Amino acid sequence: MKIAIASDHGGLNLREEIKVLMDEMGIEYEDFGCECETSVDYPDYALPVAEKVANGEFDKGILICGTGIGMSISANKVKGIRCALVHDVFSAKATREHNDSNILAMGERVIGPGLAREIAKVWLSTEFEGGRHANRVGKITAYETK
Ligand code: RB5
Repeated sequence: MKIAIASDHGGLNLREEIKVLMDEMGIEYEDFGCECETSVDYPDYALPVAEKVANGEFDKGILICGTGIGMSISANKVKGIRCALVHDVFSAKATREHNDSNILAMGERVIGPGLAREIAKVWLSTEFEGGRHANRVGKITAYETK
């Protein structure tokens, strides 16, 4: 599994935490910024990561900003992306099992690093259940491609 990760300046510290987690889990990833020496614009980081996931270059993505909202709104504009904004462990598991979410968004200003690590860990290690959920995800894909 190969993960594309990025953040804006509001998500810089949490991005580093999640990279440590992925090192511990033995998960391959590439960091797409930001360098964050100044304030940056979240779509400049969300959209390239979303495109890399949508075109199959990466299996999944993780996007972090202050709230996670800007990153999730931006990523979900890209066809094929199901970006879930998650701040609890239950939803992290459910969105993989039910929605087959392929990008996880989190907000560094919303939750602490301990909870964020747990969310990412569960999200990264939970499989899509398929079945009736595949029909529902299929309807989203069909809408995108009509
Ligand atoms: C940056 O100040 C902040 O607006 C951004 O990180 C994010 O929260 C946007 O949704």
